[in-house]
Amino acid sequence: MTQQIGEFAPPNRLMLTPGPSSMDPRVYRALASPLVGHLDPWFKGCMDDTQVLLRQIFQTENRLTMPLSASGSGGIEASVVNTLEEGDEAIVCVNGVFSERMAVIASHTPAKVTKVEAPYGKPVDAEDVRRAGKGRKIKIVGLAQGETSSGVLTQIADFRKVADELGALLIVDAVASLAAVPLHVDRERVDICFSGTQKAISAPPGMSPITVSPRAEEVFRTRKSKVQSWYFDLTTAMNYWGKERLYHHTPPVSLIYALREAMRIVMEEGLEARCERHRMNQLALIAGIEAMGLELLVKRPADRLPTVTAVMIPDGIDDAKVRNQLLDEFNIEIAGGLGALKSKIWRVGLMGHCSQKPYVLLFLAAMEKVLIDQGLRVPSGAGVGAAVQSYTHTHSEAAVVSR
Ligand SMILES: Cc1ncc(COP(=O)(O)O)c(C=O)c1O
Repeated sequence: MTQQIGEFAPPNRLMLTPGPSSMDPRVYRALASPLVGHLDPWFKGCMDDTQVLLRQIFQTENRLTMPLSASGSGGIEASVVNTLEEGDEAIVCVNGVFSERMAVIASHTPAKVTKVEAPYGKPVDAEDVRRAGKGRKIKIVGLAQGETSSGVLTQIADFRKVADELGALLIVDAVASLAAVPLHVDRERVDICFSGTQKAISAPPGMSPITVSPRAEEVFRTRKSKVQSWYFDLTTAMNYWGKERLYHHTPPVSLIYALREAMRIVMEEGLEARCERHRMNQLALIAGIEAMGLELLVKRPADRLPTVTAVMIPDGIDDAKVRNQLLDEFNIEIAGGLGALKSKIWRVGLMGHCSQKPYVLLFLAAMEKVLIDQGLRVPSGAGVGAAVQSYTHTHSEAAVVSR
């Protein structure tokens, strides 16, 4: 009853995880700004700004573009429950835990769901989707552009082509890729695309930006049955994010402040420069990891997701001990594997604010010390040396955030 709760003092971690990523101080300042009501005239302007920035980052003119009051999984849920109803068929490309999640959530609808799978570490083959859908009426094809559980990048174009042949909408999970990997929603004709604020946008967790093409909106309008979720019914949620700004639910006002500021930072850097920064820093990280004698899960360089690098845990090395020592001794957090990859890989995130040259070099130096302490023979200074060489030879100025 008399228990005293101590002062609130979270540690200052470097979050080299597959999300959340560390944030720019400007985003913290926005988060701590005075609260206003969600129908305040000033806040309506802040919502306009947020939608303008979201359209710039998704590279779309889509009217229905807004941040859902939910984490990235809410984006998955909204995408499938708004499109699927009784009698529909869906194909979901599954190559890891998060694309599997799309299939699982879709299976909560009355639609028939077919999974087209690839081993973890590889993207699904679009030809397999073509084969699975042949002669059937398919409503949606879903995939994760960045599969965070294995660090795999999927190229969207081939899947758009197959979805066109099948007459299906294309749904793309860009939770781990938006603002770090090239993605042009309009040019690539993605029908529904969603993300998470805590990854390469480097805002706090808790919002899922989503954008919907006019064609997908038309599918929503012509549904025969009610959307099974009231909260995620995008047509009514849009009364608040649309012209009328009618109350739907109370949104996380402070998170929207932070998202707006984080997206301003994204656009100040520019999408192209930002993608290049992610690419350069991952190349240096990989050079360092390989020079230390470690192997990557994703063998083909073109399949590697720039924001998440999956590193095979060497035989005899304890996953948790390495991660705990990195945290305790260096304040660096990396992640372990999920599902079938648990205890088999580490996942090193270089997302948004965390994709920086100093952090890559610090991580490689810290990892060398930890691996040696855990009994692995690592050539002295090899990781940092190889990363320095990588930066030198690739001559990029984009490897560090410019501010
Ligand atoms: C590709 C992908 N999709 C969906 C999710 C789910 O997002 P959240 O954990 O924010 O609900 C994640 C989370 O890591 C993800 O990486």
